[in-house]
Formats: sequence, C-alpha cells, structure tokens
Amino acid sequence: MSKVQSPKSDDGTTTSSRVADRRQHNSDRGHANLSPADFGLWTLDFGLTVTDLRKAFLSPTGARIDVLRGISFSVAPGETVAIVGASGAGKSTLLHLVGGIEAPDHGGIKLGDFAVETASRPELARYRNGQVGVVFQFHHLLPDLTAAENVCFPLMLARRDRRTARRSAYEALDRMGLASRASHRITDLSGGEQQRIAVCRALITSPLLVLADEPTGNLDSIIGGLIETELITYAASRPAIVIIATHNQDLARRCDRVLTLEQGRIVTE
Ligand SMILES: Nc1ncnc2c1ncn2[C@@H]1O[C@H](COP(=O)(O)OP(=O)(O)O)[C@@H](O)[C@H]1O
Ligand SMILES: [Mg+2]
Repeated sequence: MSKVQSPKSDDGTTTSSRVADRRQHNSDRGHANLSPADFGLWTLDFGLTVTDLRKAFLSPTGARIDVLRGISFSVAPGETVAIVGASGAGKSTLLHLVGGIEAPDHGGIKLGDFAVETASRPELARYRNGQVGVVFQFHHLLPDLTAAENVCFPLMLARRDRRTARRSAYEALDRMGLASRASHRITDLSGGEQQRIAVCRALITSPLLVLADEPTGNLDSIIGGLIETELITYAASRPAIVIIATHNQDLARRCDRVLTLEQGRIVTE
C-alpha cells in the first residue's frame, strides 16, 4: 500500500521546516506539543488510506442492510474532507470504522503503516487514545466533570503532566470563548457550549486524525462558525487529517474535498 504524500509546499519550504513551524504554532495555540517519540514510528507525512470498505447491519427483523458497499479514498495530512449524504447514508458508520470504534466486514483502513482493521485490542486502544480525536454527534462528555476536566481527560489517560494538561485545557477553552465556563459542570452548560468543549477535548492530544460527526448540527451560525474555524485551522497547523460528517453546506464548502455517500458508495469526489 503506498503512502499518501503530504501536500506540496508552493513556497519552497521543506517538510521538516514546515513541521517545526507548525509545532511552534501548535505550542503557541496551546495544543499539547507532542514529540515524534509520542507517535512511535509514526511520522507527520503519513496519510489515511481507506480501501473497499464494506459494512452491513442486521435490522431487528433480520434483514441485511448494506450500509457501506465498497468505499475507497485517501486523505493527506493537512487536508479537510467533508462527508455528506442523506440521513442514514452511513456517514457515522464510516467515521466509526475509520476511528477503530467498529470493525468493518471487509476492506482496509490504514493510517500510515498502521492497519486499523487487523489491529489487536491493545493496539486499537493506543490508536484511539493517541492518534484519533473524535467529536461525537451527541458529544459524550462526562457529566460529573467540569468543562476543563473533560478537556483534560485524554491527557490524563496519556499520563501527561497534570499542570501542563490543565493549562492546555484552559487555553483551548479560551480560544473557543469558554474561559469563563472552565469550572462549570457539563450539565450546567448549553448544547453549543458542550459541543465546543467536545471539540477542545478531541484536539487536546494533537491527534493525527480528527473525526467529527455533525459537529455543528443544531447550532447557530456564530457558534457553528467557531467550531468550523477551529477544526479547519487545526488541520492546516498540525498538519492533521480532519474528516467531518455534515449536513451543513457552508461547512462542506470550507473543506478541501467533499465526499458524497449514496447507496453505500461515494458518488462524487
Ligand atoms: N449498530 C447498528 N445496528 C443496526 N443498524 C445500524 C447500526 N448502526 C447503523 N445502522 C443503520 O445503518 C444505516 C446508516 O446509519 P448511520 O451511519 O448512522 O447513517 P448517517 O450517519 O449517515 O445518518 C442506518 O440505516 C442505520 O439505521
Ligand atoms: Mg450520523
């Protein structure tokens, strides 16, 4: 399987100088500044390759629903991709397979040299905790923790220094206009605030791959715009692969590419 190359620079800079610049930029923006050692053999030039992905579910009556019927695409670091399609088209299913949350029936998912579909449970856990940031459709924040504790949570799992983690969390919340909500419990916050916290949590470990499932659904355009900008800026600065399932045409237009799912296949690219 060939590697996906990182986007070409048109200003003549080398990959390593751009990576160094972006690390500094990430550090300035408060993203936990992980070193290459944190990724083992993984490098910033590795992309995502999805090959002939298929997934079927059984309905309660036992009928087979072929949700994904042969999905293939590649994404390079720094690229943003919108997944669009009618409700029930399989957008969430695709994100769950790519994120190692569910297993495909057939096909391959590779991030760099790491094959998600054949990974062991511990390898999958490391992949999800270390390389993937997910913004779930219903955010799945921990209700008994504060906003800052929720954002810190992935860094605590990764055993990062507690003080540095809290500072990164406050900076992330501040960028999203939520500095004054850092100590609030999740249950005391509005839907738009919760969704912004979910975005902060997804990006806090500086993941290579970000999967956002309708992150701006039901939000007004100002809050939705903040989330869009954060995700799109993150992709360019990390550089990361950001895949967003969305019904929002404005958001889809801001992405580098739009993949439309229909009848289990990609119909436009
Ligand atoms: N765990 C599951 N069991 C059975 N059917 C499922 C399951 N997950 C998803 N589906 C079905 O797969 C189809 C695609 O769902 P989904 O990926 O959530 O679509 P979208 O996110 O595009 O709205 C739907 O018909 C849904 O009912
Ligand atoms: Mg969905």
